Amino acid sequence: MKKLFTLLFAALCALSAMADEGMWIPLLLQKNEAAMQKSGMRITAKDIYDINNACLKDAIILFNQGCTGEYVSSEGLFLTNHHCGYSYITSHSTVEHDYLTHGFWAMTREQELPCPGLTATRLVKMEDVTFQVLDGITPETSEADRTEIVEKNIAAITKEATKGTHYKAIIKPFYYGNQYFMYINEVFTDVRLVGAPPSNIGKFGGDTDNWMWPRHTGDFSMFRVYADKDNKPAAYSKDNKPYKPLKHFDISLKGVEEGDFTFVFGYPGTTRRYVTSDQVNLSANQENPIRIALRDIRLHHYKNAMEQSPAQRLKYASKVASIANGWKKWQGETLGINRLKGVEQKKAQEDEFQQWAENYKRLRIRDYDYTTVLPELHKNYEALTSVDLEWTYFNEAVMASDFMGRAHRLYAIAQMSNDSLAQLQIRKFLKDNERYFTDFAEHTLVDKAIFVETFEYMHKAGYAPYLDKADLGKIYDNSMLTKKGAVEKFFKGYKASEKSAKKLLADPAVDLFNVAYSYSYTPEKRSQYKEANQNINRLMRIYVKGMMTQYPDSNFFPDANLTLRVAYGHVEGFTPRDGVYYKPYSTLDGIMQKENPDIYDYVVTPRLHELYNKKDYGRYANAKGEMPVAFIATNHTTGGNSGSPVLNADGQLIGINFDRCWEGTMSDLLFDPGYCRNISLDIRYCLFIIDKYAGARHLVDEMTIVR
Ligand code: ARG
Ligand code: ASP
Repeated sequence: MKKLFTLLFAALCALSAMADEGMWIPLLLQKNEAAMQKSGMRITAKDIYDINNACLKDAIILFNQGCTGEYVSSEGLFLTNHHCGYSYITSHSTVEHDYLTHGFWAMTREQELPCPGLTATRLVKMEDVTFQVLDGITPETSEADRTEIVEKNIAAITKEATKGTHYKAIIKPFYYGNQYFMYINEVFTDVRLVGAPPSNIGKFGGDTDNWMWPRHTGDFSMFRVYADKDNKPAAYSKDNKPYKPLKHFDISLKGVEEGDFTFVFGYPGTTRRYVTSDQVNLSANQENPIRIALRDIRLHHYKNAMEQSPAQRLKYASKVASIANGWKKWQGETLGINRLKGVEQKKAQEDEFQQWAENYKRLRIRDYDYTTVLPELHKNYEALTSVDLEWTYFNEAVMASDFMGRAHRLYAIAQMSNDSLAQLQIRKFLKDNERYFTDFAEHTLVDKAIFVETFEYMHKAGYAPYLDKADLGKIYDNSMLTKKGAVEKFFKGYKASEKSAKKLLADPAVDLFNVAYSYSYTPEKRSQYKEANQNINRLMRIYVKGMMTQYPDSNFFPDANLTLRVAYGHVEGFTPRDGVYYKPYSTLDGIMQKENPDIYDYVVTPRLHELYNKKDYGRYANAKGEMPVAFIATNHTTGGNSGSPVLNADGQLIGINFDRCWEGTMSDLLFDPGYCRNISLDIRYCLFIIDKYAGARHLVDEMTIVR
């Protein structure tokens, strides 16, 4: 009885957002204002979002399509994470100018480096367009028709909304399509790299410390937006001027104490807060273990190779970083879900919903019958799961090796009947192939082992019966992909035709890819998946609406969908496991404690030592004279929030969000205030590095610093 009660209580809490849970819509922030002020906020919802006046939202940018940035000067200077700017720092790095390793600081505007392809998007305004988007839809409209009508309406609304302007409009569904918001954006394309700390500051702790607390990563980089003479977006030009944002953040050097109010303003990517027990079980207990096990294999081989030489380490670093990022997060997520009894919690919540739905139907208050939605969802998950798991294997095993990745490209060429398209792809392939063979010798052992072991793993699990008699080692050795010059020879005089395709498909690697792909992606499996998925989306729309009817007084936050949101909470430590308490902030002392000159991720430069030994922190030290580095708080964040400004009760910048604590990574599915913490770089460490470490004081002087 007590257990049932606990679960029911958990389910209840799980429904109405718990303290600190939620990623709120800026336009509707009035609803949260009282709670935020009660939590300590001293500004108003209007200071944060206001269509008629410059407000904090004007200081936020969407950095490409996956990170956040914030303006810190009236001259278009903005901050984001080092890991967000990473590819731009790398692309400007050469052996002579290795900015990635040694850092980069533009000492003049002329030295700032253009970053083609990089966009910085400002939200001009947002608007609820639900009625317009759903215009023409009745309860009888089929799902396929609904999709079509919605698409047509969206195209018309966005066209009308941006007519005669340089703005771009985008409309996104909320609550699975119960509501729609339109975003009018201004997209800047002349964005230049201004500064980045050296790797051993910006990536300090590397993958070992990733997703973990205590953390000491100086994860920031700086860029500047340029605009035309009218302060409007323009393609790169020498004549462009630094953009003058409507608003930039004041920076506070006061720091924060445990218990202080903070909020995060940025672009969270994806959460799945309202999914059923079946989905939680599928993610945490079925998909994650498969992905983790297969990535174990890859990481094992890459890490071994990285230990062989510094050149190898560099070669695999970014590959390993991206494989390890998901691998580590999923482990934390599954542990977290099971610690919370996430599946049982969801089931208890579903039982309660079902009971409510029966009563609701009996009352006949409205005509909606919610009693069938959960059983139907369950049925559709049954249809989805087998294909979903097979495809998870395909992605993580078949696609694990470079060998199969390259075979995939040849397979695609074999499918092309248009010769000029085929030639284009062949040229691209051959170019990459040349590079591939430059360091092929050492790599082949690693890649072969990964290829063989991941396929074997999938075979053992019963997902690749076509391997029953296959000799994977032979396939690897006999393919032209593993012989220098062989692919070049094959493509000499190649013309797209059925005959050529047949020859290409006869290569053992391309053949294996073909067999694997044809096995897992049959028309039946595709349509089974598509149908189940569409049904789930439609049913979730009904289920979420039902829950909102069931709990009319709760403020349901919509799942993250890469739109601008506000999350708020408190600076707070936590207990990750028995007997351990995590303090909410870290300092430069911790960097010295972690220092290890033999381990790449823990190297500390003499310059940082010198500043540390002299305690030369200037105005950036905290009241105790320490140099703060990072802090944690209970703000609900996710991927995409990287680079987001972390603000104090007065809306001043105190940090840059960059990660979450491992024990709370289940927060995309279930938020637990006891464990879920976002990790922020303390703005004082960022300024200390720019000013004291790099001597780029002129950049700090551009900023508005308040004490
Ligand atoms: N965990 C952070 C996020 O999800 C940082 C990832 C980059 N750092 C790394 N060592 N892989 O984006
Ligand atoms: N590190 C993530 C990002 O890059 C943030 C997170 O997942 O908490 O967006």
